[in-house]
Amino acid sequence: MQNFDYMTPTRLIFGKGVISKLPDVMGNFGKKVLLTYGGGSIKKLGLYDKVKELLADSEIHELSDIQPNPKYDPSVLDGVRICKENNIDVILAVGGGSVLDCSKAIAAGAKYDGDPWDLISYKVKVESALPIVDIITLAATGSEYDCGGVISRTETNDKIGYMDPHLYPAVSFLDPTYTFTVSKKHTAAGCADAMIHIMEQYFCEDSTLLNDGFMEAGLKSLMVNARKCLENPEDYTARAEMMLVCTYGCNDIYSLGNSSSGWPCHGMEHALSAYYDITHGEGLAIITPRWMKHILSNKTISRFVKYGVNVFGIDASLDEYEIANKAIDKTYRFFESIGIPMHLKDVGIDESRIGEMAHHVAVNEGLENAWSPLTEQDIAEIFTASL
Ligand code: NZQ
Ligand code: ZN
Repeated sequence: MQNFDYMTPTRLIFGKGVISKLPDVMGNFGKKVLLTYGGGSIKKLGLYDKVKELLADSEIHELSDIQPNPKYDPSVLDGVRICKENNIDVILAVGGGSVLDCSKAIAAGAKYDGDPWDLISYKVKVESALPIVDIITLAATGSEYDCGGVISRTETNDKIGYMDPHLYPAVSFLDPTYTFTVSKKHTAAGCADAMIHIMEQYFCEDSTLLNDGFMEAGLKSLMVNARKCLENPEDYTARAEMMLVCTYGCNDIYSLGNSSSGWPCHGMEHALSAYYDITHGEGLAIITPRWMKHILSNKTISRFVKYGVNVFGIDASLDEYEIANKAIDKTYRFFESIGIPMHLKDVGIDESRIGEMAHHVAVNEGLENAWSPLTEQDIAEIFTASL
């Protein structure tokens, strides 16, 4: 087991109706609020009006239209400007992971005199940030319980995942009823994203029985509950369990003491969504089974056998490679069965920029140090196999 130094300062307030605590919680941070949200789903949900009603005593400024794969320009830059011009005390992010990730970049940029890209690109270390409270409306990223964010810069095809302990949300409200309206597409993509967060921690050199069991249970829970959510979008119990499993995703709790895998599928997917603005969870579901096939070897096989037997119930007495290949096939078939398009061509990506994207990933993502190292050529082969 590896050494670790772990703390998650985020307060989670979970369940139906918990928004009634919002005025008390926000009162701890000040009256000047930047309310951030996306393209309008929170208005359809009635959440926008509810927040305005509950915070009637606050001075609320707004940043709307934050897009999926949130953009540095204009969203982060506009948000930083609003915070500085109005001396904002706290950011209230209401929406999915994109809104929250954008809000994290704004929170850091608001406390920095230079170009906020310096912080996102790790040129300058974050020294402080505005507090963030969020109401998460989509079960997927786990941004509500981690200190990371992912920001896209269109002109350079960069999509950078950056992390800093100052960026943990102070408080996250998780009411599963707010996810009843999430479309089938985003319910499935959210499930795939959360599953692959777990896989990125599972497929590594050094793990424990405890972590393996926790992660295998997380994967099984996501597969069972995502199906239920797709069949009945208002199944509270299924939405609630899916929300919690997603929340744990990226804050390391699944893998304390594990060695790092290097998160290769995320490293590769970020290029796909930077170049083509596709849905993150779909891009991941497409490349992950191809990555699995690509790295299967005598060095990696024992993890695939464990995954196949414990997650999919494959007969442990079969030949190791038969188990591993069945497990990879079942992973693919599961994503396909929940409606995810399983080829890059299905999401508008052809072979024309594969070389360029593979080069970008090889230069920027450090995957030559992953558990199963990937060269530029490996990355290009995985993209090509995903077409
Ligand atoms: O913009 P609005 O109108 O709000 O609509 C959104 C958006 O179109 C909609 N939506 C959200 N909640 C809804 C809803 N529609 C109906 N009812 C609701 N309750 O869903 C669409 C997608 O939203 P988005 O926030 O983009 O999805 P998600 O939460 O999956 O976030 C994806 C982003 O997070 C990053 C991804 O790369 C991507 O940019 N990630 C962040 C991570 C983190 N911070 O830890 C880790 C992940 O690996 C991931 O990379
Ligand atoms: Zn992800």
